[in-house]
Amino acid sequence: MNKIGIGIIGGGLMGREMASAFARWCALTDVEVQPELVAVADLVEDVRNWFKRIPSCQQLTADYKELLANPAVDVVYVAVPHNLHEKLYIDVLEAGKDLFAEKPFGFDLASAKNIAAAVERTGRFTRCSSEFPFLPGAQRVVQYVNSGKLGRVLEVVSGFHHSSDLDSTKPANWKRFSRMCGEIGVLGDLGMHACHLPLRFGWKPKTLFAQLQKGFPERPDGKGGMTACDTWDNAMLHTWISIGQDEVPMRLEMKRLAPGETNTWFIEVLGTEGGVRFSTKEPKTLWLFEGGKEQFWKKTDLGFGMPFKAVTGGIFEPGFPDVIQQMWAAYLMEREGLLGDRFGCATVAEAVATQEIFEAALQSQKTGSVVSLT
Ligand SMILES: NC(=O)c1ccc[n+]([C@@H]2O[C@H](COP(=O)([O-])OP(=O)(O)OC[C@H]3O[C@@H](n4cnc5c(N)ncnc54)[C@H](O)[C@@H]3O)[C@@H](O)[C@H]2O)c1
Repeated sequence: MNKIGIGIIGGGLMGREMASAFARWCALTDVEVQPELVAVADLVEDVRNWFKRIPSCQQLTADYKELLANPAVDVVYVAVPHNLHEKLYIDVLEAGKDLFAEKPFGFDLASAKNIAAAVERTGRFTRCSSEFPFLPGAQRVVQYVNSGKLGRVLEVVSGFHHSSDLDSTKPANWKRFSRMCGEIGVLGDLGMHACHLPLRFGWKPKTLFAQLQKGFPERPDGKGGMTACDTWDNAMLHTWISIGQDEVPMRLEMKRLAPGETNTWFIEVLGTEGGVRFSTKEPKTLWLFEGGKEQFWKKTDLGFGMPFKAVTGGIFEPGFPDVIQQMWAAYLMEREGLLGDRFGCATVAEAVATQEIFEAALQSQKTGSVVSLT
């Protein structure tokens, strides 16, 4: 096993999730690389202290520049508020480290383009986090779409729904403020998840009409008072895409206020001859449409059919921690040139394309009109 030293900047929700994926790497049976968490930088002491449970993690620092100066760090994963993406990502690249970036890959489109230019300039291997396509159901959607069984595509819907923000007593965090999350709000928060597979299929919107909604104008500030919240919370993007000679409607949905949904990622592609549906609401289940004189939606329970094989029994269910680990396996194997024909992580071009979609959505919302993308 080729050991790769990993540094994490931002040890919050996602930083810890990634650390736990490395800690159970022994579950994977067909990878030739082994991530080893060697350093963590976070401003908060309590956050840093959590990482003391990981023996390989020898460096805990409040100053990410110290982590970047550590020769044991080969790859840096950065999970910080969006207003810091551009500065930190570029610092990582210029320190000569490879980058696993978090979405939305910058504060806005200009920021994403500056990061992409730094990737180009430094030549460092860079990918962006987007884990749901590694689920077996999502992988089957990819195979089905590429199989040509759909006939002429009639319609595409791809989205991601949460509901926790329906609770108006939930204290505000940085994701509720445009100054930290970006004017794009929920688009930046959930948009990569909705856009990743469509973009991988080459389905970038040509035109787009956006409906953006805000939720609660203020929330508890966690200190006994209230604070103003100004980000968009729900987004429906009605778009046209081209598939071959055909113009096809595609709807992208990103919602933080979706009644009853905890973390629902879904995609549906309907065609004249076939159709396919997958949602994490039914994480084992793949739906396939069969046309003919009588029409059927067939459903099947999928097992643990992951891109990278694991010790986990084939009939068991996969979950969020599993796809995080699979995504890291894809990142590290691609970095070694060993990905083969397996699904790769979101590319820099795909991340910039999401920001082009988000910018067009803001423009459409502002003008109330349909916006063309180049
Ligand atoms: N891929 C996914 O499914 C997914 C899920 C949630 C969040 N995210 C993304 O991950 C990123 C982080 O989100 P989160 O939910 O983990 O946030 P979080 O608030 O839980 O964690 C952010 C951490 O960054 C630290 N931090 C802030 N400034 C810092 C600095 N200058 N140096 C070092 N550390 C610093 C904070 O102390 C905090 O611990 C965002 O880009 C977000 O969009 C991705």
